[in-house]
Amino acid sequence: MRKLIPAVGLLALAGCEIPSEFLQRMETQSKYEYYEASEFWADGRSMRAPPEGSIPREAKVGNPGMTTGRINGALVSAIPVPVDKRVLLLGQKKYGIVCAQCHGVLGDGNSIVAENMGLRLPPSLLDLSSKPVGHFYAAINEGYGVMPSFSGELDTEERWAVVAYVRALQAARGTRAGAEQPLPQENR
Ligand code: HEC
Repeated sequence: MRKLIPAVGLLALAGCEIPSEFLQRMETQSKYEYYEASEFWADGRSMRAPPEGSIPREAKVGNPGMTTGRINGALVSAIPVPVDKRVLLLGQKKYGIVCAQCHGVLGDGNSIVAENMGLRLPPSLLDLSSKPVGHFYAAINEGYGVMPSFSGELDTEERWAVVAYVRALQAARGTRAGAEQPLPQENR
């Protein structure tokens, strides 16, 4: 095979036509379509059921505070995973990809999308520092009002990382670079 690859490259360079069976394009290769019958399996189906005992990634197992942001219906008040630099950097990255276009890079609700949204504006997340962390987790996990759930984009760890980063944005509001304490309200 190793020897074949340069040979194919040379053929392509020379402009020769390579038969598509040879390239095994995904389009033409033999495969089953959805719901197609199969003689291979005893039950005659090509689509297989998950092995017994498999659970969906988001199944409510283990610690519900961790997976739903609520314990017995009450929003959790502490992030249930250790928050370190790695988690905050992950949160920063994911926030930038999934949330910033609406809630703004700083979390203040200033974004191009927000400027052009007619129905309901994405709120500033900085004004919500009194809300428990579970509120942010649940908003990501379940959606909030017109905002859809982002559980498909972010797994449990990434959701908590985003929550930790939102907390960091809230803490950073009104803080000068290098300052240890946030500035008093009147100096902001
Ligand atoms: C497509 C734009 C959009 C994206 C992307 C988005 N949001 Fe939202 N978000 C909204 C809007 C609009 C609302 C207000 C919904 C309402 O009140 O009906 C909202 C509401 C919220 C709320 C509830 C605010 C409150 O008043 O308590 C939180 C928390 C939140 N978003 C966090 C996030 C996080 C974290 C992300 C990224 C994982 C995110 N949002 C991504 C548009 C967005």
